[in-house]
Amino acid sequence: MMKIYLLLTLLFFIPNSYGGGFKTISSRIFEPKCIKCHSGTFAPHGIDLTAYENLWKTPGHHLILKHGYKKLIVKGKPEKSIIYLEVESGEMPLGGERLSDEDIILLYDWILAGAPEFLNI
Ligand code: HEC
Repeated sequence: MMKIYLLLTLLFFIPNSYGGGFKTISSRIFEPKCIKCHSGTFAPHGIDLTAYENLWKTPGHHLILKHGYKKLIVKGKPEKSIIYLEVESGEMPLGGERLSDEDIILLYDWILAGAPEFLNI
């Protein structure tokens, strides 16, 4: 599966495929699909996806045990980023449809590009 994404990434030309940094990811993925649960004081495991700076908090210990990785996002390494793994496996959004392949690739490319807050090309 990962290989297919890498191939698609190359086909779609990396610099343009992630569009405009956090704002794009947020309006395409987090706002419509995640923040009804992942916001505010009671966000599951403190994972609040409403602001860029929240993405860098260390998630709870059980997540580390589950995935073996320590961060929600590892810049440049989507395959070690818990957020990508959850979406790719279809576990998130919880109770909802799996994200479209296009959106999953968008998230992948954004993390691969260093998960920038703003468009930096
Ligand atoms: C209907 C509510 C809901 C929606 C929508 C939702 N989540 Fe979650 N999310 C949860 C809950 C509840 C947990 C805690 C699950 C657990 O402890 O097993 C969770 C956990 C997580 C985790 C940590 C993994 C884990 O196993 O605990 C990540 C990462 C995550 N969500 C990302 C997302 C992303 C990204 C989206 C949008 C694409 C999303 N979630 C949409 C409710 C939701």
